[in-house]
Amino acid sequence: MKSLRIIVRRHGGPEVLETVEEETPEPERGEVRVRVLVAGVSFADLLMREGLHPEKTPLPFTPGWDIVGEVDKTGPDASRAAVGQMVAALPIHGGYAQYICLPESEITPVPDGLDPAEAVSLVLNYITAYQMMHRTAHVAPGQRVLIHGAAGGVGTALLQLGRLAGLEMYGTASLATHQTVTSLGATPIDYQKADFVEEIHRLTGEGVDVVFDGVGEANVWRSFQALRPGGRVIVYGFTSFLRKGVLAGGLRYRFRGIVRPAWYALRALLSPGRRRILPYSIQNVKRWNPAWFREDLSALLDLLRDGKIRPMIAGRIPLSEARRAHELLGQGSVKGKLVLVCNWPVS
Ligand SMILES: NC(=O)c1ccc[n+]([C@@H]2O[C@H](COP(=O)([O-])OP(=O)(O)OC[C@H]3O[C@@H](n4cnc5c(N)ncnc54)[C@H](OP(=O)(O)O)[C@@H]3O)[C@@H](O)[C@H]2O)c1
Repeated sequence: MKSLRIIVRRHGGPEVLETVEEETPEPERGEVRVRVLVAGVSFADLLMREGLHPEKTPLPFTPGWDIVGEVDKTGPDASRAAVGQMVAALPIHGGYAQYICLPESEITPVPDGLDPAEAVSLVLNYITAYQMMHRTAHVAPGQRVLIHGAAGGVGTALLQLGRLAGLEMYGTASLATHQTVTSLGATPIDYQKADFVEEIHRLTGEGVDVVFDGVGEANVWRSFQALRPGGRVIVYGFTSFLRKGVLAGGLRYRFRGIVRPAWYALRALLSPGRRRILPYSIQNVKRWNPAWFREDLSALLDLLRDGKIRPMIAGRIPLSEARRAHELLGQGSVKGKLVLVCNWPVS
């Protein structure tokens, strides 16, 4: 049986995404084959395509961090998974494909009746938001938080989970997306026109308890200045490397992306006020504690089933148009989660 997947043979812009048709992979011992229904498109995919992500993947590779699909075939000794069961996984690469083989331990069952596109939004964006809030920042009801990129994929997840956790929320976003931020319960701040540090102190007085910073670079130190004594900046991304669809690379990336936040974290330790800068990385937390990943994803799937969270789907694009999906995400102003439709459900 033949099937399609996307491959990257050399690093570069969206044009390096190539669709190939080849023999469908067979599951090995302890593996299941998943017929992928949807694959998430993420900023991390763009960074990997350019060869800029800290998570290094040798060429050629198939991008795709997060998937939802149906178990299609089980390999020898893969005993627990039922063929036809809808499952979610975070393979980190390989998701942009009609079929993917994964160790059985990597899949989490998805409750019946959920929209695969909404479910896949949980696997990268909501887990990141949930773990940063509850496992890294340990937020408590009534605390004030600032969320950068509040209308984006992780930003909207932080807003919905922050509302459930009883937080007072402020969110930076461009003016065109302020309505989204307001509708999810936060006070928007136009980061393109206003100085967010001044705005936060004007609105709150002493500052916020936690800042979630996926922007990176010099923004991290400014986020630190928006904290009240004892507060935390959680650093988790590099959105600032994207300028009009083009990613900055080379030495500039290495210095500004890795060295600068590390230097800021050290400087924070030496500053008065017990304020800290802490990194978060979904792949590292999953490697160190895979049980947390499964537990948190199951908790989020239950919240979705019970209608307590409602992921925003920015668009559903066919797998063969992965290049267009990357162009759209690279241009910015995508609200919520963009997904690639790889197959339609059988039932
Ligand atoms: N560490 C981890 O484990 C982890 C996990 C998931 C994601 N990430 C990272 O998190 C970041 C965000 O991911 P995402 O999927 O949410 O991206 P996204 O959907 O593209 O959203 C990014 C948002 O950032 C906003 N933005 C751009 N420049 C900004 C600035 N200077 N100040 C404030 N907001 C700004 C954009 O808003 P406008 O369009 O309104 O300008 C956009 O809504 C990425 O760097 C990604 O790689 C890390």
